[in-house]
Amino acid sequence: MRHSFRNTRIQERREKVEPIKDTFNRPLHDIRISVTDQCNFRCGYCMPADLFGPDFAFMPKEHYLTFEEIEKLVRAMSELGVEKVRLTGGEPLLRKDLHELIEKLNRIEGIKDIALTTNAMLLPKQAKKLKEAGLKRVNISMDAIEEEVFKKMNGRNVSTKPVIKGIDAALKAGLEVKINMVVQKGVNDDQILPMARFFKKKGITLRFIEFMDVGNTNGWKMSSVITKKEIIGLLQQEFDLEPVDPDYFGEVANRYRYTDEENEVGVISSVSDSFCSSCTRARLSADGKLYTCLFATEGHDLKEAVQTKSHAHLKAELAGIWSKRTDRYSDERTEETAKNRPKIEMSYIGG
Ligand code: GTP
Ligand code: 5AD
Ligand code: SF4
Ligand code: SF4
Repeated sequence: MRHSFRNTRIQERREKVEPIKDTFNRPLHDIRISVTDQCNFRCGYCMPADLFGPDFAFMPKEHYLTFEEIEKLVRAMSELGVEKVRLTGGEPLLRKDLHELIEKLNRIEGIKDIALTTNAMLLPKQAKKLKEAGLKRVNISMDAIEEEVFKKMNGRNVSTKPVIKGIDAALKAGLEVKINMVVQKGVNDDQILPMARFFKKKGITLRFIEFMDVGNTNGWKMSSVITKKEIIGLLQQEFDLEPVDPDYFGEVANRYRYTDEENEVGVISSVSDSFCSSCTRARLSADGKLYTCLFATEGHDLKEAVQTKSHAHLKAELAGIWSKRTDRYSDERTEETAKNRPKIEMSYIGG
């Protein structure tokens, strides 16, 4: 099997921390940090352009956690089991000097993996700086290879060309790259095979993501989801695929290897085959609220605590939150919860 970052990542620098567990015995292992709620795209499944228009009230920038505050929180989390940090948005590369945050996080003992999820538009300018700061991997969102479909889906009429440039800049900088494609029936399902062909040839892992009911604005309905089974069935009409064992507990993607190539594809099936029982992820919004589920309604405001409390107190507060966690939204999802439960928006919490 192809070696992954787990086999090559940096040496452990201290005794392994015994992670804090939630009410279902799930350890805290990952923190996904949204650094801004703004984005230069308007993907319909995330920030529909008619709702996120020129008058939309984004978070005032004065409300953002500073990089020092984020560092303080991650330091406390690392002592509770967090080893993996993912920076998200909106579009995280819109946050000024993001590489400085990565430098700070990279110095925290116990943090073994720093990754970023981005639309790639700003990678040609930033990839080298990000890699030098300690970033290891980028997941790049790209929903179609055909120009017209891609232009329509990103809501800004942007061509695939700058995204492909961003992908190439990341590879050139030495970053590990994966592609995320959210699949919506009738919108881009005709792109599944063309995208698979393109990224197979390019030697890059492509992950298909089932369209999810995140937030309350994307008009989700079950009938617009193409399931993992359907996606794999379609791929198997053209490619010979072999399932690959998960790399680690709680990996969100099911991965498959092309038997004729050293390359993989993945599917993230939060709707048809949920993975809450192994969910080790907490999420932090740009203004300092901690969420214990992507589909949460309420977060825990940590802004004041990070500004006023000692490291030990902050750690105790975080431990208290995680140890009471009961979330398993995707296991319980129904058309009713999808429609009526108030949920935070994807652009606010970063996926
Ligand atoms: P890797 O570490 O590279 O595997 O990253 P990832 O797949 O965890 O992160 P990424 O930001 O690329 O997310 C890919 C898709 O998985 C997005 O649609 C996320 O919203 C979704 N996702 C990630 N974590 C969770 C989760 O805990 N629950 C649900 N329902 N979806 C998730
Ligand atoms: N369903 C599934 N994935 C989504 N993403 C954004 N909105 C949705 C949704 N409604 C994906 C983005 C990005 C990742 C963070 O989440 O495409 O790759
Ligand atoms: Fe922006 Fe990513 Fe949301 Fe698209 S999915 S609007 S690129 S944050
Ligand atoms: Fe975790 Fe919530 Fe996603 Fe389930 S729905 S995997 S609990 S974030």
